[in-house]
Amino acid sequence: MADEMIFHVKPSFAASARVNASRFGVMTNHAMQNPDPYWLEQARRLDWFRFPELAGNGSFDGDVRTSWFSDGTLNASVNCLDRHLAENGGRTALIWQGEVEDAVRHVTFRALHEEVCRLANVLKGLGVERGDRVATYLPMVVEGVVAMLACARIGAVHVVMFAGFSASGVAGRLRDCGAKLLITADEGRRGGKRIPLKTITDQALLELDGASGGSPLHTVLVVSVTGADVPMQAGRDHDYAALVAAANPNCEPEIMQAEDPLMILYTSGSTGAPKGVLHTTGGYLLWASLTQEIVFDHRAGDVFWCTADLGWVTGHSYVVYGPLTNGGTTFLFEGTPSWPEPGRWWRLIDKHQVNCFYTAPTAIRALMREAPASLSDTSRASLRVLGSVGEPINAEAWLWYSQAVGGGRCPVVDTWWQTETGGIMIAPLPGAVAQKPGSATLPLPGICPVLVNDKGIPQHGESEGHLCIDRPWPGQARTIWGDHARFVQTYFSTYPGLYFSGDGARRDADGYYWITGRVDDVINVSGHRIGSAEVEAAFGTHDKVAESAVVGIPHDVKGQALAAFVVLKTGGEDADAGLEAELARHVGQELGRYAAPDLVILASELPKTRSGKIMRRILRKIATGEHDQLGDVSTLADPSVVQALVERMKR
Ligand code: PRX
Repeated sequence: MADEMIFHVKPSFAASARVNASRFGVMTNHAMQNPDPYWLEQARRLDWFRFPELAGNGSFDGDVRTSWFSDGTLNASVNCLDRHLAENGGRTALIWQGEVEDAVRHVTFRALHEEVCRLANVLKGLGVERGDRVATYLPMVVEGVVAMLACARIGAVHVVMFAGFSASGVAGRLRDCGAKLLITADEGRRGGKRIPLKTITDQALLELDGASGGSPLHTVLVVSVTGADVPMQAGRDHDYAALVAAANPNCEPEIMQAEDPLMILYTSGSTGAPKGVLHTTGGYLLWASLTQEIVFDHRAGDVFWCTADLGWVTGHSYVVYGPLTNGGTTFLFEGTPSWPEPGRWWRLIDKHQVNCFYTAPTAIRALMREAPASLSDTSRASLRVLGSVGEPINAEAWLWYSQAVGGGRCPVVDTWWQTETGGIMIAPLPGAVAQKPGSATLPLPGICPVLVNDKGIPQHGESEGHLCIDRPWPGQARTIWGDHARFVQTYFSTYPGLYFSGDGARRDADGYYWITGRVDDVINVSGHRIGSAEVEAAFGTHDKVAESAVVGIPHDVKGQALAAFVVLKTGGEDADAGLEAELARHVGQELGRYAAPDLVILASELPKTRSGKIMRRILRKIATGEHDQLGDVSTLADPSVVQALVERMKR
């Protein structure tokens, strides 16, 4: 039983760990009993222009206006760069490994600081002011990090968009955040192919211009990544490198209030379009910095490889803000795990002497399939800690990661958190907490998880329920950009007074948490959060589609895959050959390839309750072939719909 399996902290690891068991106990008690002094002590890890006297303010009741360190002032780029210059300016802040093996850049803190200052001056020269939004749509290149820190330097709010988003996805996000300026690239490289980012950008901007009210976006900076010849629109598009080279290398940082916005990051929910989660400067930075140090047992100078794309929150907190505030060397890889061969990641760990490696279960499962051949000729001896994030990790993958990749030497930290939480919430501190494969283990000091049953009653001891968090913490999102009511509604209305994560979890007799997955209509495909409503809206833009319902079904590698039931306007199931594939492609074009369903099933009707609600529970069972476990179908308006779908699946 996975439950019984336990990996104790090795005394040799604990002896030199940042946080050992006794320190963990002290921190946890202090955080619970004296929260304000505890958090103000933690705040000392950052450099402030004015150190705050106030810690947390506000609660999860009512209008949920929370603030942290609100009388303090600081700048995030100073904390990532300037603070290291005097003693460690020559240390490597960032190693960039291109998809091409020989393409490598080592960027020192001094060089990164200079490039950030130059771009900050370019942005100012182009009219970007404090509080303005600047969006990026870039592949995994150094400029992606530079752009984030340059925004932070001048007090602009960065909005990083994943390079896998479609033109409509980009247009929608640009429209919502009202960005003035966009930084993109000619093309991105991915698994030996090229992604035409500038062409997609041009399409997105056409869509944006066509939208009512126009858009404040007036400038596009284009980074030359592959050197492709791309059309540049005079007056709007500029060559990034030329402007940066000509700019002044000194830029005084803006003095930001702790509660000034640092970033907006779009993420999917159960309903509506993706929402812009807003994080502010002081609390977010503290949380990214503290969690990176204690969860990964990080030391200044460590080479830290978080494989997440900069476009997701994991890339923000653990490629950029966590490692850089802590003086680490962050590793940025342009390529994909298995290209040109399945052992690429492991070879890169040896080549760049990576100390800590942080990835998602999907990638671990995919690489496990290629083993042991892919691991041969690599030692991975530099590794000290391994991390997992984004989805539940099954015990088999955990054990392979721990034993085959980490050689049994490295603790595995399974970290539970979300875009909204800013950083890690539940995870084993590797020098303090014994690990159980498949469990994210215990909350970090100051974090109070609560499991709530169907009736909204908090459960105690061993129990299962909806995972909520009591008490504010510094890294939490403050609002949804432009829609605070949606923020309150989404996270704080289901269980008043608590933050509701949307996940289910179980707590065992040792108080360990086992995340069971989403309990709402969010589907987690390869660690990417996809809202069923978003995919259904994308189907709705196809001229043959009347209606659709999208559900998540188990997938061996991806964790979950998307299955879509689609009703055509003609009502017929016997549509043209190949229509299913065309519909899946259509969704890929509308949202990005990562959101294209694996399975499209044409249906003449969807199972609905008498009040018109689609019964997704039944659709999930039908899609997975569990036809004999459909449960109670008597509440359906027309139970015969189910039988028709079952017959359809059997064909
Ligand atoms: O369902 C949980 C899952 O990922 C969701 C958050 O997704 P996102 O905001 O995109 O952030 C991903 C990276 C933090 C959660 O609601 N999730 C994240 N980490 C874990 C997890 N599920 C199980 N175990 C985890 N360690």
